[in-house]
Amino acid sequence: MSLFAKKSIATLLAQAEDSGKGLKKTLNAGNLVALGIGAIIGAGLFVRTAAAAGEHAGPAVTISFIIAAVGCAFAGLCYAEFSSMIPIAGSAYTYAYATMGELVAWVIGWALVLEYALGAATVSISWSEYLNILVGKSIPYEWCHSPFESLQDAAGVMHHGIMNVPALFILLLLSLLLIKGTQESARVNMIIVIIKVTIVIVFIAIGWGFINHANHTPYLIPADAPPAVQMNGQPYSYADFFRHGWGGVLTGAGIVFFAFIGFDAVSTTAQEAKNPKRDMPLGILGSLIVCTVLYILFSWVLTGVAPYTDFVKAGKEASVAYAIETYMHYGWLAKLVSFAILLGFSSVILVMLMGQSRVFYTMSTDGLLPKIFSDLHPKFRTPYKSNIVLFLFVGLFGAFVPVSVAGDLTSIGTLFAFVLVCLGIIILRKKEPNLTRPFRTPWVPVVPILGMIVCTAMIVGLPNETLLSAFVWMIIGLIIYFSYSKKYSKLKIPGEILPTSEKFDKK
Ligand code: ALA
Repeated sequence: MSLFAKKSIATLLAQAEDSGKGLKKTLNAGNLVALGIGAIIGAGLFVRTAAAAGEHAGPAVTISFIIAAVGCAFAGLCYAEFSSMIPIAGSAYTYAYATMGELVAWVIGWALVLEYALGAATVSISWSEYLNILVGKSIPYEWCHSPFESLQDAAGVMHHGIMNVPALFILLLLSLLLIKGTQESARVNMIIVIIKVTIVIVFIAIGWGFINHANHTPYLIPADAPPAVQMNGQPYSYADFFRHGWGGVLTGAGIVFFAFIGFDAVSTTAQEAKNPKRDMPLGILGSLIVCTVLYILFSWVLTGVAPYTDFVKAGKEASVAYAIETYMHYGWLAKLVSFAILLGFSSVILVMLMGQSRVFYTMSTDGLLPKIFSDLHPKFRTPYKSNIVLFLFVGLFGAFVPVSVAGDLTSIGTLFAFVLVCLGIIILRKKEPNLTRPFRTPWVPVVPILGMIVCTAMIVGLPNETLLSAFVWMIIGLIIYFSYSKKYSKLKIPGEILPTSEKFDKK
């Protein structure tokens, strides 16, 4: 059988229909929008906005958000079509299996590990940082940093990280919640989402009155802007092309792209949605729209309250609390925001871990991964063994790897998946023009092509080390595919494929 063997849409739909013994269908449209927002608003907004504004885009970071949102909107429209048409937990992996064949599907499934598993690890490290800030830095440095990090304190004593215990703790807690049940997880997520969205709105509403228009003028960082002062007292120059003007805005877009990652995770729960045909597009596009509006307003207020140069020296991860304390003098609001940020990070981790286990679930039911990843708990009907294995894997990264390494790899895995999903839409429209499409991406092929261009541009803009690490990751994936998955693929074992039937996929 060829490496490009495709799964027929009929087979996929038959799998989705076969829900009696599979994942429970418990999620409604509200849960799906909340899952999207739960996965989207996190470290990207609360940590990277200030970094992008301070180092590259200035107040025009709002334009950076708009550019990143446009790229995501193109991909989001393609995801909406696929997930309403093929409501299977595998998301981009499944769409690739149907359109480009098994090898590409495997590659994309492998890239999604970067997005979801490393995404969860990245945010668990940020969670640990914020917890430490909230408890007045009382956690010893050694026990909340990876062995690759070290710091010289004010007394000149060197501290070396041993293990990031809080990151491991939050990953364990959320893995246990996921094992307990999807509905329970969705409920906890809903509560967190309500709290974090409320806090974001409160910050925007109160902060609006503290906007100093001088901070928004000039809107783009001028080429001759005087250098800012960094935390270590060194000057930070804006002379480089990517540190002022439109170059800075574009670099800022690449940085804040991380803030949008997660809307696609909604599609991994398609098999657990009560009415995926109607609710998948609502969940994906609804959460994306809500977050885009909040992001633009939030970044406008943040850069209006504090001059962007402040974010070069004030601890980046605590920039929001810093702006509130320094310029708004609301100590209580700073505490509340910090608390909401901690909660916000938790829901991002939760949905990322959930997304990863669902992608593995589908890859395992296809035979490309061992059966352990699709074994369901007899009572909770969640992929509990997969959740445990994932906790160990993600925990390893959370506990022992520095945040910077994991962060950009998350973005590259996501962007790669976006490009292939956009391509998949064009292919399927050509090959199967008559399939029932509950949601249709508008202006095909223009929208998917633009999506591919914007996402590829963002990939190219990532640091070279990230591209190299992603390449190595892909080589490891290919070795596993050719030594294991190809052999055990159910597409190649006669009698293992579900019967195909024209009635499923024709109008
Ligand atoms: N969008 C998620 C975040 O910003 C990954 O934390």
